[in-house]
Amino acid sequence: MFDESNYSFARYLSSKKSVDNRALNRVVWQRLQSIIACEHSGKPPAILEIGAGIGTMFERSLEWGLFKKAYYTAIDAMLENILEARARIPGWAYNVSYRVEEIADDELKLSGSGTDVTLKLEDGDFFDFAMKNHGSYAWDLIIANAFLDLVDAGRTLPITLDLLKPGGLLYFTINFDGATVLEPEIDAEFDALVERLYHQTMDDRMIDGSISGDSKTGRHFFEIARRNGVEILESGSSDWTVFAEKGGYREDESYFLHFIIHTMYCALKERPELELHRFKRWIEERHSQIENGKLVYIAHQLDFLCRKADT
Ligand SMILES: C[S@@+](CC[C@H](N)C(=O)[O-])C[C@H]1O[C@@H](n2cnc3c(N)ncnc32)[C@H](O)[C@@H]1O
Repeated sequence: MFDESNYSFARYLSSKKSVDNRALNRVVWQRLQSIIACEHSGKPPAILEIGAGIGTMFERSLEWGLFKKAYYTAIDAMLENILEARARIPGWAYNVSYRVEEIADDELKLSGSGTDVTLKLEDGDFFDFAMKNHGSYAWDLIIANAFLDLVDAGRTLPITLDLLKPGGLLYFTINFDGATVLEPEIDAEFDALVERLYHQTMDDRMIDGSISGDSKTGRHFFEIARRNGVEILESGSSDWTVFAEKGGYREDESYFLHFIIHTMYCALKERPELELHRFKRWIEERHSQIENGKLVYIAHQLDFLCRKADT
């Protein structure tokens, strides 16, 4: 059985990279890639990533050729994530043959084979950062992966727009959209109750007295963008689909699944609607399904590429 003391958010984010790699909507991605190639062939884009975690989207952007030259600022509220990013990115860069220089305490420069990228890693709350940089209109592209559904998207979008240049781009991806599927079924009624209550915890979450999360962020974002005069250039689904092949789950994805099930346990263990013994048995059975390579997990999500108005 999976050792409970081993749960690490940084390892979860690392295990999520291959899941996101499969999930990210390629039509949305390719549209972003072609706009960056067209509009930033001469001048490197200034990119801000919000809730950047341990830096996997930064790595992916280079692995998938989004840019060769850029000024990339990655901010995350958890110091451990930023420290992990600082620790892992030089090793990753070396493995993919970039030269890495530390140009300041919080800044790395990656170069080689035509690449020239400055990465600034900042720990801090995005809303504080946005307040400090309010009206700076400094960034060409703002990225947020698996972030927008954790905050109040309706409040976050206008704050984000204040940082973006006129005509700048928003790439908001892996936005949860109201469906968690766990197969095989244990008990249809109980499974559905767990799913409903789990989603409700996302809708009820408050941070500092404000709404913080929405289990239907994906579908709600269309209206939020319209209200803020933001044009959606492309959107499409980016569902996580995790299953075991003959040789088991890929990469570190069994860890990813154990972490998700553990998160559900933590979110719901005090809910009076669930009889605790029964819920614990249900959680144990889900962990066993992972150990046996039987669990299939699907989470419905949506990606967006948007443009801020030019004026
Ligand atoms: C689900 S994780 C996704 C991390 C990363 N984007 C990825 O996909 O691997 C959400 C991240 O947002 C960060 N976060 C949450 N609220 C934040 C805030 N107000 N300001 C900055 N980061 C925040 C968390 O610390 C966490 O690392």
